[in-house]
Amino acid sequence: EATPNVDLALFGALGDLALRKLYPALYHLDRDGLLGSDTRILGLARREHDIDSFRKTVHGMLKKRVKSHELEQACLERFLARLDYTQLDFDTVDGYEKIRDWHAQSPDQTCPLTVYLAVPASIYGSICANLEQSGSLDAESRVVVEKPIGYSLESSHEINDAIGAVFPESRIYRMDHYLGKETVQNLIALRFANPMFGNQWNQSQISHVEITVAEQVGIEGRWGYFDKAGQLRDMVQNHLLQLLTMLAMDPPANLDADAIRDEKVKVLKALKPIEGEALNRHVVRGQYVAGSIEGENVPGYLDEEDANTSSTTETFVAMRLEVANWRWAGVPFYLRTGKRMPEKLSQIVIHFRQQPHYIFDPDQRNLAANKLVIRLQPEEGIALQVLTKDGGLDKGMRLRPGPLHLDFNHAFPKARIPDAYERLLLEVMKGQQYLFVRRDEVEYAWKWVDQLIEGWEKRDIAPRRYPAGSWGPVASIAMITQDGRSWYEDY
Ligand code: BG6
Repeated sequence: EATPNVDLALFGALGDLALRKLYPALYHLDRDGLLGSDTRILGLARREHDIDSFRKTVHGMLKKRVKSHELEQACLERFLARLDYTQLDFDTVDGYEKIRDWHAQSPDQTCPLTVYLAVPASIYGSICANLEQSGSLDAESRVVVEKPIGYSLESSHEINDAIGAVFPESRIYRMDHYLGKETVQNLIALRFANPMFGNQWNQSQISHVEITVAEQVGIEGRWGYFDKAGQLRDMVQNHLLQLLTMLAMDPPANLDADAIRDEKVKVLKALKPIEGEALNRHVVRGQYVAGSIEGENVPGYLDEEDANTSSTTETFVAMRLEVANWRWAGVPFYLRTGKRMPEKLSQIVIHFRQQPHYIFDPDQRNLAANKLVIRLQPEEGIALQVLTKDGGLDKGMRLRPGPLHLDFNHAFPKARIPDAYERLLLEVMKGQQYLFVRRDEVEYAWKWVDQLIEGWEKRDIAPRRYPAGSWGPVASIAMITQDGRSWYEDY
């Protein structure tokens, strides 16, 4: 089915996100025949640029970010020809008529103006108001916004109100690029297409769950932004809680956006606040100091470019969460995420309960549970750890753990796994919202995060140090071992 045409107005057209993610994703969609033939893209930024130099900039970036055998001349020309550029001062309505006029010239008069705000959330409101006032919007116009939506529940309210004053919720697409990752969608398939998993997905069969999102990178020139946010706001409020809701939600009645999002919201509402003593026992904040990654020395957080050397912002956080509902009562969810870890790894591990009665070698008791390992990156794949008999005549009934493995790259070698932004942009163009975050999800997530931050502030909980290149402060290991468990280590 052909993708509908859109007129895409891209605010922040020369920014990092647009250059690194959006143009490469749009190019790939075009190459795969997934852009409407009359789809056009209008780059908007404060800098003066003529159309040729803008196209040249985008072309230069594509050369860096797209594999050379995928950069086909004919497709490249077609893609660059879709691009237009206009200098715009975002804050004042003067100049917005250029967007209106550009949209009016669309060869497909039925295509909606789709506005992508790749700019800080603090100006979402004024851009939306200016778009409306200038008469640029049509009856089907959509807006795509990036995380973080604010800094707290209160600020997210203001931003959501301002966007909502112009666009109805059904035409607001809040990005969380983790929802576009192939394996995250596979969670839906895995859970709801396979009774073998679907029927086991609760506290009677699962003992605990781990979610690790480790990054090797540090702050990458974003110190100013990051220091105000910290890892809890930058990663947990959105990506990790989104993964958690996809894992923990009840089966939706169907695949409609609101059926899914209703279930996700219920999980957020059931998240137990972490308060009192639990703030020390169940949460660990960390900040990296100098260390080494793959043999290379790297500076500490406080020695990075632009750093304020007395910052107490966390670059790592680990926590033990509980979803207080019928399905998950008593099942801890251990989350951890940090910068400057030994490798880039995003992975979910579901630990199933042990057999009620055990008949094998007592020394092997601790092996005796199935684990489902769902890996998002670097390679995407799903592995189920099962126990079989160790081969050979001399082994008796020794058990051997081994994976039943589904590695998507091997299983489907021809299929290129698309970047999350490709999928999400395509969904926007099709007008499908199930991979986007609804307003109440953002707000419940902030509510939970705010309460945690308040606890940190009240108790003056400072981050613990961890050397760059390690798996975080030792306290994050103690946090899980105090429950008689350990982080799954099959890196
Ligand atoms: C972004 C965060 O949302 O996600 C960054 O702001 C982080 O700090 C990035 O590095 C991680 O995304 P990915 O897809 O590389 O895991």
